[in-house]
Amino acid sequence: MQVAMVTQFGGPEVLVTSEEPDPVAGPGEVVIDVVAVDVLWVETMIRSGRGGPYFDVTPPYVPGNAVAGRVRSVGDGVDPGLIGREVVTRTGQRGGYAEQVAVSADGLSAVPNGVSLHDAAALMHAGPTALALLEGTRIGSGDAVLVVGTSGELGIVCVQLARARGARVVAIARDKQKLARIRELGADAVVDSEQPDWVGQARAALGGEGADVILDNVGGAIGEAAFAAIAPGGRFSAHGTPSGRFATIDPTEAARRGVTVRGIRHVQLSPDELQRLTEQALTDAAAGRIAPVVGQTFPLVRAADAHAAIEGRAVFGSTLLLP
Ligand SMILES: NC(=O)c1ccc[n+]([C@@H]2O[C@H](COP(=O)([O-])OP(=O)(O)OC[C@H]3O[C@@H](n4cnc5c(N)ncnc54)[C@H](OP(=O)(O)O)[C@@H]3O)[C@@H](O)[C@H]2O)c1
Repeated sequence: MQVAMVTQFGGPEVLVTSEEPDPVAGPGEVVIDVVAVDVLWVETMIRSGRGGPYFDVTPPYVPGNAVAGRVRSVGDGVDPGLIGREVVTRTGQRGGYAEQVAVSADGLSAVPNGVSLHDAAALMHAGPTALALLEGTRIGSGDAVLVVGTSGELGIVCVQLARARGARVVAIARDKQKLARIRELGADAVVDSEQPDWVGQARAALGGEGADVILDNVGGAIGEAAFAAIAPGGRFSAHGTPSGRFATIDPTEAARRGVTVRGIRHVQLSPDELQRLTEQALTDAAAGRIAPVVGQTFPLVRAADAHAAIEGRAVFGSTLLLP
């Protein structure tokens, strides 16, 4: 089978396809014919060698965690009735950029009727994370919510879920076309982060005392600037890093304004939580409460182009590889 492998840390070109033996399902495992793999921004960061101590990986390795496909074979102790079923699962961070994966049968989720394999793959990361963000910041009906970085896969699902819960959502993004697409997705207002007074515009669109909740998918100076738009007693989630680092919120200032600050560790979910929220995300998708946007797809042999597109900020929504 073909895989896309990171041969050494470096630019997208270090991601090359190679032939590997087909996997065999061990006891308790299944082999999946992979139809779609979600490609994450964080995978580009790890490939570039900036993963640091948080992502302990040494090339060569095959990236890829969230895969959707059909069960090809089962190992000892696994129901043969699973063969041919449409499923979605995680590989455990590595090995997903491949035509086939061997994974534990325990971690499979059935893809519900009405949800495509592409959408299921796109939801495996963003769905549970967005649900955890909404639960953790207690977003509910009538809340004013500011989502920073809404053009990415997580931002889009955050906007949809917050709207579905009755919140009023102000979305921050840049690029005329991306701003228009986000408005179509249901944000109540969109603000261009490249406008010099974007924080003031966001404050005006939020109304009242500002945002009850801010979800920062971007980090750095943009996330820190957004903090000025939070209402007293609000909740701020600083989980995003694509700008280069997490937003740093002064704890004294947060305490003075009664603001609760959360971070990436609050969305690093236990296996049980991840499974519960994955099932909920798939149910929400089947019911139409969320609809991930697959903005671009690439064949496995063009995995390097997928990474280059994400790093070049030339993507919208989820990016998938289609082995
Ligand atoms: N996906 C998940 O489920 C998940 C789970 C846990 C944590 N996270 C974290 O959440 C953040 C967003 O993840 P994602 O998967 O949604 O990523 P994504 O799909 O690649 O989206 C990245 C977002 O960040 C913006 N961005 C990219 N480079 C930027 C830069 N240099 N300066 C400012 N904005 C920039 C993009 O906006 P433009 O359109 O303007 O480029 C886009 O809105 C990441 O830090 C990720 O590690 C994500």
